[in-house]
Amino acid sequence: MTSEQPGEAYVWVWLPGATEPVVAGRLEQSARTLDFNYGRSYLARSDRIALFEPELPLVSGRIRPTGNLAVAGVIRDAGPDAWGQRIILRRLTGAGGRDTDVDQLSLLTYLLEAPSDRIGALDFQSSSGTYEHRPSVGTLEEMVGATVEFLAGGQLSPDVSQALLAGSSVGGARPKVLLDDGGRKLIAKLSQDSDPYPVVKAEGVAMELASRVGLTVAPVEVRNCLGRDVLLVERFDRTAIPGQRRLLVSAMTVLGVNEWGAIHSGYWELADAIRARFSDVDVTLRELFSRITFNICVGNTDDHARNHSAFWDGGSLTLTPAYDICPQLRSGQEAEQALAIRPDGWRYSQLAGCLDAAKVYHLTPAEAWDIIDNQVSTILSSWPEAAERARLTAAERDAMWHTQILNPYALYDWPRRP
Ligand SMILES: Nc1ncnc2c1ncn2[C@@H]1O[C@H](COP(=O)(O)OP(=O)(O)O)[C@@H](O)[C@H]1O
Ligand SMILES: [Mg+2]
Repeated sequence: MTSEQPGEAYVWVWLPGATEPVVAGRLEQSARTLDFNYGRSYLARSDRIALFEPELPLVSGRIRPTGNLAVAGVIRDAGPDAWGQRIILRRLTGAGGRDTDVDQLSLLTYLLEAPSDRIGALDFQSSSGTYEHRPSVGTLEEMVGATVEFLAGGQLSPDVSQALLAGSSVGGARPKVLLDDGGRKLIAKLSQDSDPYPVVKAEGVAMELASRVGLTVAPVEVRNCLGRDVLLVERFDRTAIPGQRRLLVSAMTVLGVNEWGAIHSGYWELADAIRARFSDVDVTLRELFSRITFNICVGNTDDHARNHSAFWDGGSLTLTPAYDICPQLRSGQEAEQALAIRPDGWRYSQLAGCLDAAKVYHLTPAEAWDIIDNQVSTILSSWPEAAERARLTAAERDAMWHTQILNPYALYDWPRRP
């Protein structure tokens, strides 16, 4: 299989404000890494920007990924993740169950097979001369129907297989498709039979609460389609001007780590990066702190470094709206966040301990207290309405309340006034 896989691909980019892509350079497979070269024509452009710095500086010649990375983070971020890889693998090899080894295809194959409407402002092509858009269109019903067939594991017709591709360019592990709904570009995240709790509605209610406590968050809507719960999420990597795309990088890329490195990363390191490289430092740090404490309030412990992103304009970074805030199942009371909150490695899902981290996020303990207090009281007062919007049944609400949402462990020793 490996011998038939591509050895190179061209990276096309939508520069800030542009509605058409240009070739930025070429990716080349070497023994262990996927290396990048800027094209001469790109380096000669007056409006050139580094695809991301410091990993891909504007220099000529081969740029190998640094550290333990197999490919520059900004390229990895634009590729399919667990869900998309399963779809592409099934199309190309017939295999693609949950346990299939997705590493039998190379990253270059995944980059070239996924459709063009991917997250961010990069696309991958086999030609440097002409840009060929690989479309991915379909209605919500077609897409949901196709996903259900895929998850059932049967033979897929070419139509179904084509429809499924639409979600394969987006990262993440949950089933999803991309939609064009008039002027709105949406990600639709689907429920599956194996969900241990109503995951889609849980994410819906958490995102709704997030917006009510004042976080900057992608707007969402919970729908039912063909008997499945579907979460429609408005995309923030597109603008009101048709054709424009916004470059973004995950926090994993900002921190310069791979999946393994990300396990040991922390919010406090992201705070350092914000101080060094982001626009609007104080506002951003406040928002980050608020996202941390909100995740604790709603039991979202899946707040790893791919679930935070920043826009990149070639000069500075700006935090994107929050996404993928999904209350997780917990067995006992004790829980930890995926990213450490304090430089001492503290990552417990407890609000009181976050007060001790206030300084890291340029807040006084009193300001941190106010943020948390507002979140807790807003969640208490708006839970019924938010739950209604997310279509949670009474039984589902009861199951979430004080288990995932405002768990006693999260509230331990709270309110402790500074
Ligand atoms: N509203 C959005 N606009 C643009 N990109 C998004 C948005 N929400 C998520 N993404 C991107 O899509 C990826 C997958 O979405 P996510 O909600 O994290 O799915 P999963 O639950 O499978 O992890 C994210 O890592 C992020 O890169
Ligand atoms: Mg995610």
